[in-house]
Amino acid sequence: VEETYIMIKPDGVQRGLVGEIISRFEKKGFKLTGLKLFQCPKELAEEHYKDLKSKSFFPKLIDYITSGPVVCMAWEGIGVVASARKLIGATNPLNAEPGTIRGDLAVQTGRNVVHGSDSPENGKREIALWFKEGELSSWTPVQEPWLTE
Ligand code: GTP
Ligand code: MG
Repeated sequence: VEETYIMIKPDGVQRGLVGEIISRFEKKGFKLTGLKLFQCPKELAEEHYKDLKSKSFFPKLIDYITSGPVVCMAWEGIGVVASARKLIGATNPLNAEPGTIRGDLAVQTGRNVVHGSDSPENGKREIALWFKEGELSSWTPVQEPWLTE
């Protein structure tokens, strides 16, 4: 089944947006399978964003992600990776459509409040990177027959 790693970045936590952001994925109908508040060590932030290592903003990005606790989440559902990216909106919040998380709640790329995996493969990779096995739950939401036929 498809899964994605969603993370509320330190600005989202500091600004009191945790409930608001989780709500958007819950209301959409995706299934939450992992959730924790976590102070990310530098090494983990670097591993998570390793594809961006050559970028000039990489050190700033690592400082940002490690600047306070993040909320780590695993979400499951058909098409969840691409759909979550749509709910999140464009990387630069000024280009993100109203109605998206970044479009509604942020103004700058360097403070764009939330992360979402960019492919199903990266979804699996990132969930394995951020969660230990016992931290994930598989369960059947009672609303399932009302969400899918
Ligand atoms: P994530 O979901 O966090 O991976 O964002 P994304 O997939 O929309 O963008 P990308 O993977 O290209 O970049 C990862 C993160 O690096 C972005 O979300 C920003 O927080 C940060 N970032 C990207 N480009 C810039 C930039 O030009 N300047 C700064 N300061 N940060 C950037
Ligand atoms: Mg990305």
